[in-house]
Amino acid sequence: MTTGSRIFLVGFSGTGKSAVGRRVARLLGWDFVDQDEYIVERSGMAVEQIFAGEGEDGFRRREREAITELAARDKVVVSGGGGVMLQEACRSTMLDAGLVVALEARPETIFARLTAAVGEPGAEGMVRPMLDADGDPMERIESLKRERQWAYALAEWTVSTDGLSVEQAAHEVVRAWRRVGRASTLQGDPLLAATVTVETGIYPVLVGWDILESQLGPRLRDAGVTGRAFIICDSNVVHPYGRAAQRSIHKAGLEVGLFIIPAGEASKTLETAGVIYQWLAEQRVERRDAIVAVGGGVVGDLAGFIAATYLRGIKLVQVPTSLTAMVDSSIGGKTAVDLPAAKNLVGAFYHPEFVLTDASALATLPARALQEGWAEALKHGLALDADLVDIYESKADQLLALEPELTAEVVARNAAVKARIVTEDERETSGLRMLLNYGHTMGHGVEAAAGYDTYLHGEAVAVGMTGAARLGMAFGVTPAELVERQALLLRRFGLPESYTGVEPEAILEAMSRDKKVSAGQVSWIFLESIGRAGVHRGVPQDLIAQTVRTLRD
Ligand SMILES: NC(=O)c1ccc[n+]([C@@H]2O[C@H](COP(=O)([O-])OP(=O)(O)OC[C@H]3O[C@@H](n4cnc5c(N)ncnc54)[C@H](O)[C@@H]3O)[C@@H](O)[C@H]2O)c1
Ligand SMILES: [Zn+2]
Repeated sequence: MTTGSRIFLVGFSGTGKSAVGRRVARLLGWDFVDQDEYIVERSGMAVEQIFAGEGEDGFRRREREAITELAARDKVVVSGGGGVMLQEACRSTMLDAGLVVALEARPETIFARLTAAVGEPGAEGMVRPMLDADGDPMERIESLKRERQWAYALAEWTVSTDGLSVEQAAHEVVRAWRRVGRASTLQGDPLLAATVTVETGIYPVLVGWDILESQLGPRLRDAGVTGRAFIICDSNVVHPYGRAAQRSIHKAGLEVGLFIIPAGEASKTLETAGVIYQWLAEQRVERRDAIVAVGGGVVGDLAGFIAATYLRGIKLVQVPTSLTAMVDSSIGGKTAVDLPAAKNLVGAFYHPEFVLTDASALATLPARALQEGWAEALKHGLALDADLVDIYESKADQLLALEPELTAEVVARNAAVKARIVTEDERETSGLRMLLNYGHTMGHGVEAAAGYDTYLHGEAVAVGMTGAARLGMAFGVTPAELVERQALLLRRFGLPESYTGVEPEAILEAMSRDKKVSAGQVSWIFLESIGRAGVHRGVPQDLIAQTVRTLRD
């Protein structure tokens, strides 16, 4: 396969090739072509007419022409005819040009679907002959299917569609494409998404798709790491990312060690740090060695804290694998561990040599973790980058399907937003970095009052952004139209706008305990226009309380 920008769906009639293909095309933002419809259009004849006039040979010839033409197109999903895989010429053309996915179904499912399809426009030509042929139609389907199965088995991926809706089957195809058929054009050099300039120097944020293994080792060498590299990752990402990092570093000729912590926030403690310090000491780690954090925000914060403190600082590289880490925690130099009293209570500002972001890792991130990551990404757009909001609004489907180029681009733009703010206000002194707290005042309140196991951080931030928008409107700062646009976006990305199971009073109480209260007055971040936020003080308490109440589900 030479490129990932074509998908061919093959399989028996009744496996849902057209309906699924149409949906896949919409998810990816590609064109959809039904091979038989294409032939009918090109020839000006119905399929039965071609069979009657030119025989099966004539139809197969037209099929070869159609596949050759379609294989030359870009960003296209083709639903092939039932027999297309039987022709060697078509098969090799499709396998060379893109990803071939076979849709499967049991004969009973096929029979049921074909019976239901009779009478649908376009279905007659292909469906009726199979049902009308002599003998029992079920038997006919079974034997035809047996005859063809060897050819369908040559597809690169198979999706069993029994019991799946069109939507579910389409998502399975997109998932296959993400894993097997992603665009090779993106596998080259990563994009320099941003540079972060801080007191201690300047470092790049590199973003790409499927770049981890090819890039990490060489980039470590470029960054002047001449000693050994010590990877810290968690139990969920060690396969495949920790191992890929290890291979990459090894291939670059550097010695490499790997430490795996249990996945989850519970690992972000001084105890875990202590065990890792011990490991580093046993390995006689020196200052020319480096720590490589491969994982989400938990690994990044913990490994960053360790790098900042071990030998008073050794080199650090961030390889974020969660969306939260890619767009937020890996950039900006905040490292920390939690204490029983509160999260992130002990920490240091400490920057990496570089950040290497392989956006293809998002393909394995659990759905809810991906979703909460979008909250911070939407926040970056709404508060700081109007162009990002444009992309979110116009290409949500493709983003939610993790279309590689677009996803890498959006991750890169988010990194750039965060990098710019950090560069201009490294230590949160000028107030600029505060703008990143949009949605976080009420968000933290919801998170704390509901208990940290109820809402993920990003989910609470989504509720908080809804609150901030309404409060901003009530305070006369945020335009009503913006409140609505934000609500649509949150919904589109599957994020909550309200809370449940917790009392508004508990949230207000938690908010008043939050550290961002200075001299009794909360600084509120409100949207002033799309992509622009500002800091506002003097918001009346009753307005705040009223807004918190409106957020209750
Ligand atoms: N330093 C900062 O500026 C900053 C900013 C935001 C958040 N944080 C911190 O980040 C943490 C939250 O980050 P998070 O949401 O990434 O949490 P996380 O690191 O716990 O990752 C979430 C879950 O996803 C798993 N995972 C990560 N990448 C994966 C992948 N590609 N495939 C499959 N599974 C994967 C993890 O193992 C974990 O189970 C919190 O501790 C928070 O305090 C820090
Ligand atoms: Zn946040």
